[in-house]
Amino acid sequence: MSDQSYLSLEKLTLAYGDTVAVADLDLDIRRGELIALLGPSGCGKTTTMRAIAGLLPVKSGRVRLDGADITHVSPNKRAVGLVFQSYALFPHLSVYENVAFGLRLKGMRGADLDARVQQGITSVGLSNFANRRPAELSGGQQQRVALARSMVMEPKVLLLDEPLSNLDARLRLEMRTELQRVQKETGVTMIFVTHDQAEALALADRIVVMKRGAIEQIGSPQDIYNRPQSSFVADFVGFENVFALEGGKLKANGHLYDLQGDVPSVAGLAWRPRMVALGEGPFRGTVRGTSFAGDRREYLLDTPLGPIKAEDDASAPVHELGTELAFDLPARKAAPLASFA
Ligand SMILES: Nc1ncnc2c1ncn2[C@@H]1O[C@H](COP(=O)(O)OP(=O)(O)O)[C@@H](O)[C@H]1O
Ligand SMILES: [Mg+2]
Repeated sequence: MSDQSYLSLEKLTLAYGDTVAVADLDLDIRRGELIALLGPSGCGKTTTMRAIAGLLPVKSGRVRLDGADITHVSPNKRAVGLVFQSYALFPHLSVYENVAFGLRLKGMRGADLDARVQQGITSVGLSNFANRRPAELSGGQQQRVALARSMVMEPKVLLLDEPLSNLDARLRLEMRTELQRVQKETGVTMIFVTHDQAEALALADRIVVMKRGAIEQIGSPQDIYNRPQSSFVADFVGFENVFALEGGKLKANGHLYDLQGDVPSVAGLAWRPRMVALGEGPFRGTVRGTSFAGDRREYLLDTPLGPIKAEDDASAPVHELGTELAFDLPARKAAPLASFA
């Protein structure tokens, strides 16, 4: 555990019966950080959240929070808040009473209670809705109630498990900004689970990318987006052309190909579609698909290397289906990959 760490997961192993879902996971989170846990469905994000919340027994390893070992502390005693995708508000209670519920359970009453609830409701912009029932609110408003309900408990860590995935695209964007604002204003340490890379990039101080129950890469949004370390992360964040290297040559379909420029000695290289140079270069491909994407046009090329995804400005001349095109995969533009799965 590092000195700065507020929440530490140490060699955490989690299982359902004999099936290990998360293995030997180490993670140090600083106080006030907003961490995004990013990864495909089934990689162990929810399982990790449940263990931090105390809802799943730990098979081996430790969870430390604010200097205390909470590995075996019961959920209601560990000051960890949890907001799920289905926010499960009490349908028969008003917004006010939903937010007050946990505080009442803790024995809070009178003016203290009222002040805390009012502040919670105001902080998520719902002061005019205090007397409504959940059914009289939009999905986004219900999500805000769920957030306020957790925040008033003043958790040391707030866990949000895909809280925005039930909302439509516009609301999701709005709630994203809202979450970020509440987090910065209160300084609460937050772990936000998502399988949506754009959400993670927009929100997080640091992103933890998970794959099959283990951490694949940890870094700032800029690191993850620009400097993926493995073929898995590269592919996940939109480098759609990912290749292994062998002896400084690109390996594809069992053949080796020379690249132009200096090739770093790494396990692989990855190019985003817009990094592929269309119209010139040593490779040849046939346009198999093309689609208009607003400011750009996307191309799918059939090539000896396999399918290549490329992009051009929408203002550039269109390459029609069936056209044969030269292209280049410039080594200097590629993301160097330390590991290739
Ligand atoms: N209640 C359960 N019983 C058995 N296996 C489970 C259970 N919940 C999750 N798993 C398994 O554990 C792994 C991780 O699941 P989960 O943490 O829910 O993934 P994520 O949240 O990243 O989609 C998956 O292989 C999943 O099938
Ligand atoms: Mg999940």
